[in-house]
Amino acid sequence: MTEPKKLFIKTYGCQMNVYDSERMAEALGGQGYVETKSADDADMILLNTCHIREKAAEKVYSELGRYKTLKAENPDLKIGVAGCVAQAEGEEIMRRQPLVDLVVGPQSYHRLPELEAKARNGEKALDTEFPEEDKFNHLKKRPKAKRGPTAFLTVQEGCDKFCAFCVVPYTRGAEVSRPAGRVLDEARDLVERGVREITLLGQNVNAYHGSGPDGSDWSLARLIWALNDIDGLERIRFTTSHPNDMSDDLIEAHGACAKLMPYLHLPVQSGSDHILKRMNRSHTAQSYIRLIERLRAARPDLLLSGDFIVGFPEESEADFQATMDLIEEVKYGYAYSFKYSTRPGTPAAERPQLAEDVKDDRLKRLQALITKQQREVQDSMVGKTVSVLFEKPGRFAGQMVGKSEYLHAVHVQGADLPAGTLAKVRIDSSGANSLSGTVQDSL
Ligand code: SAH
Ligand code: SF4
Ligand code: F3S
Repeated sequence: MTEPKKLFIKTYGCQMNVYDSERMAEALGGQGYVETKSADDADMILLNTCHIREKAAEKVYSELGRYKTLKAENPDLKIGVAGCVAQAEGEEIMRRQPLVDLVVGPQSYHRLPELEAKARNGEKALDTEFPEEDKFNHLKKRPKAKRGPTAFLTVQEGCDKFCAFCVVPYTRGAEVSRPAGRVLDEARDLVERGVREITLLGQNVNAYHGSGPDGSDWSLARLIWALNDIDGLERIRFTTSHPNDMSDDLIEAHGACAKLMPYLHLPVQSGSDHILKRMNRSHTAQSYIRLIERLRAARPDLLLSGDFIVGFPEESEADFQATMDLIEEVKYGYAYSFKYSTRPGTPAAERPQLAEDVKDDRLKRLQALITKQQREVQDSMVGKTVSVLFEKPGRFAGQMVGKSEYLHAVHVQGADLPAGTLAKVRIDSSGANSLSGTVQDSL
């Protein structure tokens, strides 16, 4: 028996990369690789990269630089770059960092085994095509290994929206939905392996329109209703959504579908109509607020999260204030906020830029408001009974940690609950980043 080769994967960026990293590990599993948690003893290092902001992309090169000594000690070590930097920069990566053996874009992961063989052969291996075929279709069927209680499942990839700041339409290509039957098969397989909560993923997940088993196009809501019928699956989530694709049937599902959790990530980016227009978002602040009202009418306890960009070109103090006003009005349970970062090849990168200190100042003020809201929403859970899906032991003996339906982390002490247990928990207190409670009963 030959020793299995060791694979170290480091994942940056969004959940879709997390899902893709799992698939790549499986594809290379077929080539005799097992995963290792450290780069030091790896035979192959794969960086699954993100190009969304300049810092994210630059991290990749500093990480690669660190592998110089490893490669000097072990000439058989192969180094690969996957993900959105691979797609955006392609061969340039090998020019800038000659120790890279393999570059593979997000649509070509089914070709990893061939590329790995080529790299093992001492050749440089590169594939950043956008093939017609479904990359997931070609990836090896997973071994029936047990899994934790939560899993991601990519149902849609790419984006046709072309927001003026964003690289995703270039790195992930045009919008493509996986057929519903294939998604349902994968979901059933995950449930058989112990998964109780599935988060459907897509850069524009609510634009999903995969072909259904009956030959018609299925919407995301239709897919969610079909998942709702799978015994043993207890919770369904989806991310990330665009306001313009929030269709009536999806809003309705939030009120009616028992397994769909009351949490929605719905980025707005800005509260100023002038900036939204310059961002090519094709919605207004008012249409977004109206949408939230309809969602809350369907599901009054819906917890909302959002994404914000501050310091976009032309953003005045009044534009920024409009964003602050929108945040006040919506009241978010979570939010992610970023300083605008110029991305090569996107329209906004060519425009005159705001000064860095203006961006810094606005980000600080926006984050202070968001942190306050987040804290208030979290504190408002105290005294309520929530449902918690327990995932793992906590830091202290006898402690278990899980997530509520609203995605808050919840700790309980002294309850003898295996991971995967769903229980009613009364919330007793709210800490810095999590809630503590007492188990009422297991469901
Ligand atoms: N598809 C999702 C988000 C994809 S990227 C959507 O449509 O909302 C995740 C987040 O990164 C975005 O919501 C945006 O807030 C942020 N982002 C994208 N490009 C950025 C850039 N050039 N500078 C700063 N933040 C950016
Ligand atoms: Fe990027 Fe999202 Fe806009 Fe698409 S909709 S371009 S992924 S921010
Ligand atoms: Fe980053 Fe690509 Fe995701 S740019 S956010 S890894 S789609």
